[in-house]
Amino acid sequence: MSATTLSVRGTLDTLPPDKSISHRAALIAALARGTSRIDNFSAGFDNQTTLHALRQVGIECEQTVEPNGRRSVVIRSHGLWSLKPPSAPIECNNSGSTMRMLSGILAAQPFSSTLLGDASLMRRPMRRIAEPLSQMGAKIELSTAHTAPIHIHGSKTLHPISYSSPIASAQVKSAIIFAALHADGVSEVIEPALSRNHTELMLGLETEMLDDGQHKVKIKGGMEPLATDYVVPADPSAACFILAFALLASRSELVLKNVCLNPTRVAYLDLLRASGAVLTVENLHYLGGEPIGDIVLSNTSLSSPLNISGQPLVAQVIDEIPMLAVLSALATEQFSLCDAAELRTKESDRIAALVLNLRALGFVCEEHADGFHVLGRKKIPTEKLRIETFHDHRIAMSFHIASYFSGANLELSEQSSVSVSFPNFFQTLQMLLHS
Ligand code: S3P
Repeated sequence: MSATTLSVRGTLDTLPPDKSISHRAALIAALARGTSRIDNFSAGFDNQTTLHALRQVGIECEQTVEPNGRRSVVIRSHGLWSLKPPSAPIECNNSGSTMRMLSGILAAQPFSSTLLGDASLMRRPMRRIAEPLSQMGAKIELSTAHTAPIHIHGSKTLHPISYSSPIASAQVKSAIIFAALHADGVSEVIEPALSRNHTELMLGLETEMLDDGQHKVKIKGGMEPLATDYVVPADPSAACFILAFALLASRSELVLKNVCLNPTRVAYLDLLRASGAVLTVENLHYLGGEPIGDIVLSNTSLSSPLNISGQPLVAQVIDEIPMLAVLSALATEQFSLCDAAELRTKESDRIAALVLNLRALGFVCEEHADGFHVLGRKKIPTEKLRIETFHDHRIAMSFHIASYFSGANLELSEQSSVSVSFPNFFQTLQMLLHS
């Protein structure tokens, strides 16, 4: 099948459940007195890692899988102080969200714990959580490179904090929020721009947008979350891959059902619209404070390049940048990214990974500390190309999609990383593809 004859069509109600909301629902349920039920919990390896980690600290998590693959999890807890000392280091695998957010909870426990991860996670920066949690009274030890292993000597008497985070990071914000729930007084977290706000919404916290674009969250210590039932919507970050796939194909009609449309997650839809994509939302409704709806894509392609710069935009499209960069390069031979140094601290150095692989595909790239520009394409390689994924799920998925449209013969260095966030990725593409 040639790229020009490919068409992506269908109605998809099997996108992965949202990764961020799945993590938070499990962590909050572990702190809530009673029984919480999480319907449509993600099968992704990252979210399964969070469940496993919670079991390691004595929280009862019971997962059932329906014949159609839909998962539900029942979590029983006795409230804020239910965790038990783990008998071994807590394994966070590839999941930065598990490691950072769970650290916030462990900082408040009257026991010590150690968190480990895979090679990628063991390279990621952890001082960003160690600093505020130490200020609250926990003793946190990191490697000399400020990475995991994280040794946490928790304190049951954490002090409240007023913390101005130097970065817009939802993981840092959430780690402090979880610690602050256990503290003795009212805490505040101020971030330079609004990062994804699921934790605040799920806990019903008081928030304020400040005049200069900063964002403040207030947390009352001792406020125990209520055990509740959650239904996890589809993941907008996973949706971005499918939309890019459809935008690169020539004849596409696509409906993505029940996607989380939280504005801190779907800023990429506006970028795509501004570059020519016809995207609408149907069946908009609200659940647990989160807007949810169906994304409808009509037969369009990208007519102008994507330019991404400035906050809060960069923070709000941070996970979609790999796919957006590859989409823009393939569709327009141009792309521009600035103010995104954070991208170098993800599952891989995503700026370096994108530039390396786009150059291999013949694109002219100019790399900067905080981004890169695609300035054209000088050739389409004829030899078989190996794409180095760096075991990063989003790099693997972006370039797998490129393999249909790049004109080159691509092979990924590995495909298994995809199961971190989108276990049925390859089957989903096959299902939607028509000639
Ligand atoms: C996430 C926050 C983001 C994002 C990550 C998931 C979350 O990271 O990149 O994939 O669920 O809170 P940062 O908080 O480090 O920006």
